[in-house]
Amino acid sequence: MPFATDLDVGGSMTPHNLVVERRLSHMVDAYADRAAAQELAAADPIVYRAYEAAVPHETDHLVYRTTIVHPGRVGDEFYMTKGHHHHRDSAEFYYGMAGTGVLLMQTRDGEVRHEELPVGRAVYVPPGWAHRTINTGDTDFVFLAVFFGDAGHDYASIEETGFAVRVKEGAMGAVYEQAVTR
Ligand SMILES: [Fe+2]
Repeated sequence: MPFATDLDVGGSMTPHNLVVERRLSHMVDAYADRAAAQELAAADPIVYRAYEAAVPHETDHLVYRTTIVHPGRVGDEFYMTKGHHHHRDSAEFYYGMAGTGVLLMQTRDGEVRHEELPVGRAVYVPPGWAHRTINTGDTDFVFLAVFFGDAGHDYASIEETGFAVRVKEGAMGAVYEQAVTR
């Protein structure tokens, strides 16, 4: 049946299912500075949360989520999501709702692109591009994402290779640094 949800700029969705609550201890290995990550993981802050509408994860459906990436850094690297490919290569639509952040994308061949995702901007992630979001500001970074119900989340393959670019705080704002190959 058709249904409606209300989204607010803080990222809450009514009604919703809470689908992800990612704490730092769940992603220590994602950050360049493991020692800093391990130290911060003792207090185990929540790095991000996602709320999802009650859409079936099935072919022909469009699942949508709001995600709130909290502000913070591990060493000088900004808080970010784990990032994933889709099991079935398929596109995703992003829309910036609050705060300041970036969408980092990478193909399986290692080609990398990033797009800033300020409030009111839409970014299109084509099929085959892994994607990660990064909060480069000092307030919550909130966005809407829409993807196919049968896309599936493959965290493992990008975890294995890592993203080739890391987003860190520099003197003049965010800097994009070539990652050390794992
Ligand atoms: Fe996705």
